Amino acid sequence: MRIAIIGAGKMGLWFAKFFLEEGYSVVVASRNKEKLLKLRRKLAFETADFVEAVQNADRVLICVSINAFESVIKTISPSIREGQVVMDVCSIKDYPVKVMHKHIKNGLVLGTHPVFGPGSTSIENKTFILTPTSRQEEEFAENFKKWLETKKARVFVMTPKKHDTLMSVVLGLPHFLGLVACDTLLEQADYSETKRVAGTTYRILFTLAEVAALENPELLASLQLSLPELERIENAFIEKAYEWLNLIKQKDRATITRKMKQLKSKLMKTSPDYEHSYEIMYKMLEAAEN
Ligand SMILES: NC(=O)c1ccc[n+]([C@@H]2O[C@H](COP(=O)([O-])OP(=O)(O)OC[C@H]3O[C@@H](n4cnc5c(N)ncnc54)[C@H](OP(=O)(O)O)[C@@H]3O)[C@@H](O)[C@H]2O)c1
Repeated sequence: MRIAIIGAGKMGLWFAKFFLEEGYSVVVASRNKEKLLKLRRKLAFETADFVEAVQNADRVLICVSINAFESVIKTISPSIREGQVVMDVCSIKDYPVKVMHKHIKNGLVLGTHPVFGPGSTSIENKTFILTPTSRQEEEFAENFKKWLETKKARVFVMTPKKHDTLMSVVLGLPHFLGLVACDTLLEQADYSETKRVAGTTYRILFTLAEVAALENPELLASLQLSLPELERIENAFIEKAYEWLNLIKQKDRATITRKMKQLKSKLMKTSPDYEHSYEIMYKMLEAAEN
């Protein structure tokens, strides 16, 4: 089986290495000829331009930026033939899946989202979301899910819209909180000193802040501007922030304590495993330090 990876950015190269290690024949394509030359020399990847790569492949994996997605699909779509499968890895799903259906008239399409970054060393315990939209796509997704599960990935199948709604909370809100926190923390005079004396809670906060600030700006901007529920959720967050701030300004100890107790009882009902949060948090921090 031959896999064409379209886009030689961080995720494209990650998947190129992954599929090579899995024993597949892989060809990497980029608009950038110099980049292709370096890849051929340094990493010994087979390389080609977009159209050439697609023509000789059984599976095509689109790994380009979200804002370049439609123009790349328009370029390759006339070369897609029956029997080929075209998948994308965009972190949003409704828009790219619609674009693929609009332009790709031959071949099967499947929206996928690997919910992990290019720093991951394997797909073990990593989340994949597959978003089929027809019976044929569902059948393919079911087989692909089984294959990913043999590699110990956690795989979920849902509609593109449901994916994007969930990602508003899973990706959009933490990025927003991280960016705002980073912006706030860096304006404090003693940021590096606060890090030196940090306890666990603060380590979580500055890690989130720094990770968000160091992310690919184009990707974060695309997510902030496209995830459907995000503006509503971020507004709700800001309203809540003011509500809590007012209690602090009014020195209303009784309401703060009551509201915290209410949160705990809501958590007990909606998230019975909440007590493991501390355990998980310590394990994650320990793993990051090692
Ligand atoms: N990074 C993550 O954590 C992550 C996780 C899951 C999914 N994703 C998804 O993976 C995709 C790629 O992200 P990435 O992190 O790999 O970004 P990246 O490193 O910036 O790579 C982007 C790729 O898109 C290509 N590209 C950009 N504009 C183009 C254009 N106009 N025409 C043709 N190619 C163009 C770039 O080509 P050049 O090299 O020539 O510039 C590069 O190969 C995105 O859709 C993102 O949503 C990312």
